[in-house]
Amino acid sequence: MLQLTLALKSFCNTAQSKVVNCLHQDMLLPRKKCWDLVTLVAVCYVLFLVGHKCFLPTASPSKSSSTAPSLPVSACPDSPPFPAYVPPQNGFDWRAVPVKYPVQEFAALPTGTSLTLPKIQHDFASNANTVSVSAQITRKQRQASVKAVFLRAWQSYKDRAWLADELAPISGGSKNPFGGWGATLVDNLDTLWLMDMKDDFEMAVAAATNISFNPESSSLESLNMFETTIRYLGGFLAAYDLTDCKDERLLAKAVEVGDMIYASFDTPNRMPCTRWNPRKTAEDQLPAEQGIIAEMASFSLEFTRLSQLTGDMRYYDAVARVTNILYEQQNRTQLPGMFPIGVDVRAQDLTFDTSFSFGAMADSAFEYFGKTYQLLGGQEPQYARLYEHAMDTAITHMLFRPQLPDQADILISGVAHAGAARENSGQHLSCFAGGMFLLGGRLFSNNTHIDVGTKLTNGCVWAYRHSPIGIMPERFSMNACPTLEPCDWDPHQQSAFTNIGDGKYALRPEAIESMLYLYRITGDTKLQDIAWEMFQSIDKYTRTDFANAAIKDTQMPYPEKEDSMESFWMAETLKYFYLIFSEPDLVSLDDYVFNTEAHPFRIPR
Ligand SMILES: *[C@@H]1O[C@H](CO)[C@@H](O)[C@H](O)[C@H]1NC(C)=O
Ligand SMILES: *[C@@H]1O[C@H](CO)[C@@H](O)[C@H](O)[C@H]1NC(C)=O
Ligand SMILES: *[C@@H]1O[C@H](CO)[C@@H](O)[C@H](O)[C@H]1NC(C)=O
Repeated sequence: MLQLTLALKSFCNTAQSKVVNCLHQDMLLPRKKCWDLVTLVAVCYVLFLVGHKCFLPTASPSKSSSTAPSLPVSACPDSPPFPAYVPPQNGFDWRAVPVKYPVQEFAALPTGTSLTLPKIQHDFASNANTVSVSAQITRKQRQASVKAVFLRAWQSYKDRAWLADELAPISGGSKNPFGGWGATLVDNLDTLWLMDMKDDFEMAVAAATNISFNPESSSLESLNMFETTIRYLGGFLAAYDLTDCKDERLLAKAVEVGDMIYASFDTPNRMPCTRWNPRKTAEDQLPAEQGIIAEMASFSLEFTRLSQLTGDMRYYDAVARVTNILYEQQNRTQLPGMFPIGVDVRAQDLTFDTSFSFGAMADSAFEYFGKTYQLLGGQEPQYARLYEHAMDTAITHMLFRPQLPDQADILISGVAHAGAARENSGQHLSCFAGGMFLLGGRLFSNNTHIDVGTKLTNGCVWAYRHSPIGIMPERFSMNACPTLEPCDWDPHQQSAFTNIGDGKYALRPEAIESMLYLYRITGDTKLQDIAWEMFQSIDKYTRTDFANAAIKDTQMPYPEKEDSMESFWMAETLKYFYLIFSEPDLVSLDDYVFNTEAHPFRIPR
């Protein structure tokens, strides 16, 4: 009987992988055939479960019975290499560009031992045996559906937009808004690896590491250095980290992009020139007078990781200078603790603008405080202070509780104006804030932040669920309760949304991003059901013949599509959906920290 049960199990496993393959190929096979297979696997597992319960004397966890793959031995350095890594010379040599404003003394990565940071993820091992087989099948089916959507888009990108920045998902054409260096290709190296598409990964790495980031090849005269950093540098670093730092081509390419970005810091005050022409390095290009905080202060994670991997402290020094300015001025802004959207990077003045938000043009500056602290193993207290003080101020002045007919226990992140009333509006972009508070709540052992992060995440989920097609709009307004506590609903009010500022959905990731943090921190599997609901709505209304497209108005029953699919659809949105349905140790939040483009960087031990 025991033999029979085990044979059944191996049959189940085979059948299940058939289902997964079948769902992946949904373009080729009639969908119905897949679902027949699904039913077969379900029946099969029920039989196995009965057999298992009745005939196996000791319930050994199924994991240990399968032959564990030999663990890859990581080649990632625990401490920065000394002497520093020198990349091989092929392609444009950004290091040979003369430095006009040399640095006299370089700040270096902290050299002490990392603090033992609190555990981030839920202890999934403790309830591993209570997850039913049928729930596991459901989870894997959902994960396979996410991968199938990724596969369609990836195939179309390969067929129609190979090496371009983006696929145009309706016309089947291509676009180059990020320098024309294959943003979608570089942005998705790590997704290919995580989704176990190893052959495509190898091919993509060969192509991506063959891209030359040089002044002539840039499709633009004015590069957005923030986007260049989070997509290209972040993409190469994550691919290198995930493959255990063994493929030097990836590190060399990260260094090439890093050196290009570093050249944009060659200004009189060593602040970055955030819109930068790679063809004019011989001229003075000055930092922006009308800059924005997100573009000034979102280099810290990528440049810190690059210094950790290479031992070259120029990158860390560059961001330490920006961080010092933030640290010095945090108490002197119009809303002390927070940094405003508008900043004068040229004069290093962060104190004049009166608008404060976690939304567009600000978001990742705040996101990176806690994350850089984590990447540095808790060794740089500046980042802890920046995080704690900013969050404290945001909770008091920026977040609001909306008036709702169902009194749902949620929060929305609005826009604070120093000396004027808060704008009670929400943005899809600020949905990342739930994840930021959740991660910070764990890192800094603060349950208030866990609570706030949970409510902010639920606020975005609420907005998804209360939109006519189940997708949250880009921007909306609501009436606020007087405090963060529940308040009465005004029955004269027509709808919880008082205004839809922008009904668009641009395939953005921030809501599912925070859901992933909430799931990984609480282990609550109900969140997977909600994520599945969100995923189905998104795929249904954005699907085109080639891939998925932004939609113009989430408030319409049959929204019109736009011929646009930013690289973050596959690199972030689909990656986070995939991860919420994966085993929780795939990119554990204790081992990796995500940059703002969902690229996981390894945290040194
Ligand atoms: C690398 O780029 C060159 C020209 O830029 C091209 O001819 C060659 O085929 C590329 N190799 C790969 C592996 O993509
Ligand atoms: C800034 O304000 C915080 C909180 O009020 C305080 O703890 C900190 O010491 C102040 N920092 C400076 C540099 O004044
Ligand atoms: C937790 O966070 C809240 C809000 O930011 C703050 O007021 C409180 O001091 C923090 N508690 C601890 C123990 O740090």
